[in-house]
Amino acid sequence: MMIASTKEYLQTPCGVKIDMRTGELDDPDNAYDRLLSQMYTMYEDRVAAEKMLADNPVIYRVYEKKLPELSGELQWCMSVTMPGKVGREYYMTKGHFHAVRDTAEVYLCVGGEGYMLMETEDGQVDAKRMESNICVYVPAGWAHRSVNTGNDPLISFCVYPGHAGHDYGSIETAGFRKRIVEIDGKPVIIDRE
Ligand code: PA5
Ligand code: NI
Repeated sequence: MMIASTKEYLQTPCGVKIDMRTGELDDPDNAYDRLLSQMYTMYEDRVAAEKMLADNPVIYRVYEKKLPELSGELQWCMSVTMPGKVGREYYMTKGHFHAVRDTAEVYLCVGGEGYMLMETEDGQVDAKRMESNICVYVPAGWAHRSVNTGNDPLISFCVYPGHAGHDYGSIETAGFRKRIVEIDGKPVIIDRE
């Protein structure tokens, strides 16, 4: 039996097929690419970033279902960060706090390798390794950014409270306190200058 809903978001049960090798959803309600041109000011090497704008690579891709933005409900998506670097800094997501600070998130990595870079407004910082089958818990109040330090797409399944919202503001203006860059062929976490 079909249960009709007049809401524009899903408030009925749904089952969606996910290709875990690519992160692609069957029939996503929203799928978007974040291009370098939409975030090049976030990289430490602005000269390298501006040179790459001629090709304007896709840095990451997100697949979502349209779910209720309500407390008590959940949002989930697939997040796919491409392999690559701008200068010596690895491709990464923009990163954000949740608009409602008191909301956490779970990332289950299903492919690739990298780090979840996290920080709080009062200056705590952390980075957790991401690779297939690692589940990272991002506690309430921690900004989070995926960083791909490998040669393949870094793919994660993410789940967070429906009403969490995304707050890019302070990350867009000030950036994270730490960066992940390649030094002597290896990922190294350094201070933002
Ligand atoms: O909610 C999350 O943390 C993820 O779904 C991210 O939105 C996704 O990885 C894209 O990153 P960002 O929102 O920082 O651009
Ligand atoms: Ni989030």
